[in-house]
Amino acid sequence: MAFFICFLFFLISSATACDRCVHQTRAAYYSKASSLSSGACGYGSLALGFNSGNLAAGVPSLYKDGAGCGACFQIRCKNTSLCSREGTVVILTDLNNNNQTDFVLSSRAFMAMAQKGLDQHILKLGIVHVEYKRVPCQYKNQNLAVRVEESSQKPHYLAIKFLYQGGQTEIVGVDVAQVGSSNWSFLSRNHGAVWDTNRVPSGPLQFRLVVTGGYDGKWIWAKKSVLPADWEIGVIYDSGVQIDDIAQEGCSPCDDETWR
Ligand SMILES: *[C@@H]1O[C@H](CO)[C@@H](O)[C@H](O)[C@H]1NC(C)=O
Ligand SMILES: *[C@@H]1O[C@H](CO)[C@@H](O)[C@H](O)[C@H]1NC(C)=O
Ligand SMILES: *[C@@H]1O[C@H](CO)[C@@H](O)[C@H](O)[C@H]1NC(C)=O
Repeated sequence: MAFFICFLFFLISSATACDRCVHQTRAAYYSKASSLSSGACGYGSLALGFNSGNLAAGVPSLYKDGAGCGACFQIRCKNTSLCSREGTVVILTDLNNNNQTDFVLSSRAFMAMAQKGLDQHILKLGIVHVEYKRVPCQYKNQNLAVRVEESSQKPHYLAIKFLYQGGQTEIVGVDVAQVGSSNWSFLSRNHGAVWDTNRVPSGPLQFRLVVTGGYDGKWIWAKKSVLPADWEIGVIYDSGVQIDDIAQEGCSPCDDETWR
């Protein structure tokens, strides 16, 4: 019986599971890119260098209390005489509490949706009908990185944020331990992409993360010394690993096409 129920569940979820659900909304833009760098995710001015400045603030259902920070979306405007069919890829760096649009984009991202020569035209409109879908973030030759935050205080308090998170998943758990030890301390999400703990192991530190795949969870283990024993505030450390998993959402019909 249990087997049958599991089997049935599998059939249902595989019929609706989708990694490319398309959503319809409107999008506006911020006239100043700096509005996004002071964003809720806590990336600060680092955000301005992400994804060539193609940034987005998303509504709470996309921001997900910070778990949506760093997620990538392909977005295109629906007027095909104004916009390209490919649209552009944006990375979420902020929360948008305005309920008129799912996204507020950086002006660069907003213009990037337009066909060649129409970028000033789209800016004048200010707000356009769009459709979007989540897509994997792709970082070529770039691992997931850990930045030690200014609020950290050695030796008892460590605050970090994750940068360059590939794939299409959310980080839902983070643990830290001395390299070679199995005495793990968990970190809590402080806000946005920032995680912290006041149980900081000494010595070089390894990390393990739980990422969700919508219907599934998975461990990502950065086993090497990610932070050296003498870790420093403001420094970005290479985790030695990258995430390439793709989470499933539930929707029907599913759009597996590549927009081009
Ligand atoms: C689509 O964009 C073109 C060019 O900007 C404009 O002339 C046209 O009115 C727009 N169509 C709609 C339905 O908004
Ligand atoms: C959007 O927010 C405004 C102000 O908070 C509120 O008055 C309005 O009812 C909201 N609209 C929707 C569709 O939720
Ligand atoms: C485990 O790590 C915590 C935090 O670093 C430390 O306070 C505790 O004493 C450690 N426990 C053991 C058994 O080593």
